[in-house]
Amino acid sequence: MKRVTKAVFPAAGMGTRFLPATKANPKEMLPIVDKPLIQYAAEEAVAAGITDLIFIIGRTKRAIADHFDKAYELEVELEMKGKLRALEQLRNMLPPHVNCIYIRQAEALGLGHAVLCAEPAVNDEPFVVILADDLIDADPGVTRQMCDLYDYYQCSVVGVQPVAPEDTVSYGIVAGEHMADRLLRMTHIVEKPKPADAPSNLGVVGRYVLTPRIFDHLRRIERGAGGELQLTDAIQSLLREQQVLAYEYQGTRYDCGSKLGYLEATVEYALKHPELAEEFAAFIQKRFCVTPGVAQG
Ligand code: G1P
Repeated sequence: MKRVTKAVFPAAGMGTRFLPATKANPKEMLPIVDKPLIQYAAEEAVAAGITDLIFIIGRTKRAIADHFDKAYELEVELEMKGKLRALEQLRNMLPPHVNCIYIRQAEALGLGHAVLCAEPAVNDEPFVVILADDLIDADPGVTRQMCDLYDYYQCSVVGVQPVAPEDTVSYGIVAGEHMADRLLRMTHIVEKPKPADAPSNLGVVGRYVLTPRIFDHLRRIERGAGGELQLTDAIQSLLREQQVLAYEYQGTRYDCGSKLGYLEATVEYALKHPELAEEFAAFIQKRFCVTPGVAQG
């Protein structure tokens, strides 16, 4: 049985909703409190047993590679200044057995194209796709939950959650037959349908476990919604030859591709941050005259 050891992080999008912050930096580098989104995503993957992190990078290519590289000068300086906690944090960002691979997506042709760019590094193995701007607070992490399902069912698994009827235009929407608790055997998936055309209210969030057969389908699909090569369309095509499951994951998702979701995540993560929680809660209380509840997690 092949275990999932590779994760693909598409990070070559334009990040238009966050301009100008994303002019010279990918949106995946936006921080939630003190860690960029891409690091939360990498940590979620590593916690699920992933050992190869494959970043699909674009125009603003350097920041992500720089982030995960060893920073010798910075480490020496921190050591000299006795800032040992910061040094420790930098050194332990990723465990030593984890490899980072960077692949350039020269043109932003869509999520499907980004995933296809990962093929030379994934080869003939199952793999995870993580969209870092979908930050999901969960224990165990959603990638772990989904890799466990892959181990059991040996087929592709797509993470879903119920979305408001008017929001189907922002998501891949799935339909399927009940299989087990929180699990559907997918019969249909469609990218960003109008509410009237949506087959259900279950929207895809940015977590996928895929078999390598997806690459053949990615090669064959044509431009879909928004004129882009859509991963959703390749999954719909894969369905004709392999079983695909839709899994209603356990956890709280923040849509950090939107400013509101990003702010919500910032507040919730600040309220749980070991160094900040108390002072930040006091600030909220003083400023808004409310006592923040314990953040879900
Ligand atoms: C992408 C996928 C979509 C999915 C969404 C989740 O869309 O194409 O199927 O529901 O991520 O965040 P995007 O948000 O990149 O437009």
